[in-house]
Amino acid sequence: MRRGANSQEKNITVGIDIGSSKICCAIGQLQENSSTKLMGIGIAPSKGLNHGNIVHRDQLIEQIEKAVEAAEMMADISVERAIISMTGEHIRCINTVGAVALNKGNSPNLVAEQSITMSDMEKAIELSQAVSLPIDKDILHVLPQDYLVDTLAFIKNPIGMTGRRLEARVHLVIAATTAMQNLKNCVEELGIDFEGIVFQPLASSLVTLNEDEKNLGVTLVDMGAHTTDITVYHGDAVRYSSVIPIGANSITNDIAVMLQIGLETAEEIKIKYGSAKASLASSELNFDLPVSNGGPKRSISEHEVSRYIEARMQEIFQLIIREISKADVKGKLTYGIVLTGGGAQLRNLGALATETMDLKVRVASPTNITGIKEVAENPEYTAALGLLLWNTQSDDFKNSTQESALTLKTVSHKISAWFKDFF
Ligand SMILES: Nc1ncnc2c1ncn2[C@@H]1O[C@H](COP(=O)(O)OP(=O)(O)OP(=O)(O)O)[C@@H](O)[C@H]1O
Ligand SMILES: [Mg+2]
Repeated sequence: MRRGANSQEKNITVGIDIGSSKICCAIGQLQENSSTKLMGIGIAPSKGLNHGNIVHRDQLIEQIEKAVEAAEMMADISVERAIISMTGEHIRCINTVGAVALNKGNSPNLVAEQSITMSDMEKAIELSQAVSLPIDKDILHVLPQDYLVDTLAFIKNPIGMTGRRLEARVHLVIAATTAMQNLKNCVEELGIDFEGIVFQPLASSLVTLNEDEKNLGVTLVDMGAHTTDITVYHGDAVRYSSVIPIGANSITNDIAVMLQIGLETAEEIKIKYGSAKASLASSELNFDLPVSNGGPKRSISEHEVSRYIEARMQEIFQLIIREISKADVKGKLTYGIVLTGGGAQLRNLGALATETMDLKVRVASPTNITGIKEVAENPEYTAALGLLLWNTQSDDFKNSTQESALTLKTVSHKISAWFKDFF
């Protein structure tokens, strides 16, 4: 069902975050002052997806439709095109370089040397993508980090400089071609034009991180139901990204197994009584557990349940630390960790994270969006709201993966848009 105003007419952007626990569709409108106003949000439980992989296509399409319809209803706008988010174990990253020779004539006269142009940058970025990928993988994002001109490093904008060699350092995010293609097909089957796919934590970072954090170093951790997604920023660029195939649902599973109860009850207990730090949970507060097959009455304290939760969370934090150590960053990240995603809502998670990882930690809900904020000010919605800013605020040279190789024209267009902000 499509209703209301047409999304193409009113600077409307639509983001669909396809998570393992819920599908969230957000509709935003770009304002004259360049801010984005949230117009509507729709949620549907996720079905047909497991650890980011489609396991039942029809169910997934049905749930996407429900989320889109709910958002359309709230915004009174019909969705015609959308950007979608993706995560999954198949996602990998590589830092690469692409280099071009400048002033090949080797002129002895420095003044006569030509300065670096946009076309040189385009070539360097294009060459950085010439990596040998497995047959089933494709490039999802091309994120420039910085440039080297001869021996001068960490240059953000080399245009106008002179030298012999220009090197672009680029962060590539790689994903399984089939996974991307199938997600695209699901959205298109609903009559929605596909605008591109975004790796979940990159979308989340647009509405959670500030410039200082990205510059001096921070790790964005999006803790979802089945996955924990990570992006490390330093020097105002992405240095590392990865997916840990364990999310907040592992806590629910642990509670269910330890207490021999169903997953639904375990989820309720986690949300109502769970604390990431057992020492901050009460040993006095006992609650009853469901009685199974005429067995004896059972009860358990908040503290006891929280002990299981703390053990699992410490394991996840160790995995996060291991991933961060793989990032190409020297020294400690000044701003430590920013936690977001539904899993970040666990009580006392920030306190446990600070203690276990010995890092500065903050839990973040989406910001930078105006409109019906109170509806969306929840860490579960960060990726969906981040998608609304993707077209206007991301540094990506390629957010539509299916059109495989970047043509010079596309690169040029993206670079022009990018540099418009600098002058
Ligand atoms: N108040 C809360 N306290 C603790 N955990 C919570 C709370 N609210 C939600 N969660 C947990 O957050 C997780 C869902 O998070 P989120 O909605 O970000 O996942 P998703 O984006 O659908 O999944 P993924 O990113 O793995 O694909 C679930 O495990 C849920 O139990
Ligand atoms: Mg998620």
